[in-house]
Amino acid sequence: MSEKKSHVLNVFMDREYPSIVKAEGIYLYDDQGNRIIDGAGGAILCNLGHGIDEMADVLRDQAKKAAFVYRVDFTNPPLEEAAAKVCEVTNFVMDKVFFVSGGSEATEIAAKLVRKYHLDNGSPSKYKIISRWMSYHGMTMGSLSWSGMSGRRADYIPMLSDNNHIPPAYCYRCWFKQKPETCDLACAQALENEIMCQGPETVAAFMAEPVSGTSLCGATPPVGYFKKIREICDKYDVLLILDEVMTGFGRTGKWFGYEHFGVKPDILALGKGLGGGYFPIGAAVATSKVTDTIAQESGIFGAGFSWGGNPMACAVASKTIDYLKEHNLVERCNEMGSYLAEKLEALQHHPTVGDVRGMGLMRGLEFVKDKETKEPFDPEIHFSVQLAIECLSHGLGVQFGMGCDRGQAGDMIYLGPPFIITKEQIDEMVAILDKSLAEVEKKNGLG
Ligand SMILES: Cc1ncc(COP(=O)(O)O)c(C=O)c1O
Repeated sequence: MSEKKSHVLNVFMDREYPSIVKAEGIYLYDDQGNRIIDGAGGAILCNLGHGIDEMADVLRDQAKKAAFVYRVDFTNPPLEEAAAKVCEVTNFVMDKVFFVSGGSEATEIAAKLVRKYHLDNGSPSKYKIISRWMSYHGMTMGSLSWSGMSGRRADYIPMLSDNNHIPPAYCYRCWFKQKPETCDLACAQALENEIMCQGPETVAAFMAEPVSGTSLCGATPPVGYFKKIREICDKYDVLLILDEVMTGFGRTGKWFGYEHFGVKPDILALGKGLGGGYFPIGAAVATSKVTDTIAQESGIFGAGFSWGGNPMACAVASKTIDYLKEHNLVERCNEMGSYLAEKLEALQHHPTVGDVRGMGLMRGLEFVKDKETKEPFDPEIHFSVQLAIECLSHGLGVQFGMGCDRGQAGDMIYLGPPFIITKEQIDEMVAILDKSLAEVEKKNGLG
């Protein structure tokens, strides 16, 4: 048979990708009959597990009832239901939901909501969004501007808007050379410093991931970090946008990441797990403080995208929330997450494992050349990519991350399997990782 040309514009243009023809539970199956553990749930996105009949039924049923309704002219029952359920799982901390089709759109709308709030609240000079280095908020030009992930920004810097990043909450490589036990939260204090330098009258919001995702693979903030951030935001009338695109809907072992830290956001950005892995959907969710101000002043929020609030996506989101509840999957994520953490800790015997971190079923490992000095690998050797490829060759899909050391070096991988994973499957996953790591270490003269 002659070789068929692929017309897909892939990430790595010189690579041949396995073709997945079936997915069930935590497994993917390629067209050669190979079984692969979906160890990162795709992009930490497939929370429920693959191949659930009820999810397929929802899509089919809704497609037959009404596949598309335009939100500018109409509402629809799945939209109303999904919005109510999202607010309900926040215990009505949040009041109104604006659905979009993914995480980048969610952070874009979050920022526009913030701007609109300040305009309608009589503070038209407030427009700046402060965010953090080593963060990720999406790939559109706005969300990439707020992202602090140097590698993803690099090619597009001339096209990005002015932005203002503060140091990350990254205890393993603390930018302030502090230890978590004696830390005075200099990384949170940096927000106040930045607000002062920018001029408080210009700063509209601070945007952060509660637990760092793609760019720091599971880095958790020091105790008290978000409480201090919240206080600073309140002091200067700066809204707090928590980007829970990855952490939302149970991934950290609670419905939302902020629940771990005793704070409440003004705006939440959601995506990924909101669709359970079955349909693209995201949302910007706001408190009544934000939406009442807009409703009472201009009464209009004219941002959005054509597909926002479509009934197919909303029906899936609604069913995802029901499914998580009916099967106690958030609790299960917490339980399996602790088990996974225990197993990953046992990999510390490897000469390259510098840090094991994360929450729930969102876990990352950082690899170093020297554990004492935390010297990273030469980025040219792509240690984490080598490891991800080795894992895949043994039937385990993981995500790799690079650039955690101020964008110039640093290797990580992250794991985020579906919440239905069992202890036995975790054992299998970690055994493959262990073996693959030993092989990659050996190849690089470290084993
Ligand atoms: C925290 C966070 N925000 C935003 C995004 C962007 O979401 P999407 O890729 O759905 O546009 C991601 C994606 O990884 C993310 O992890």
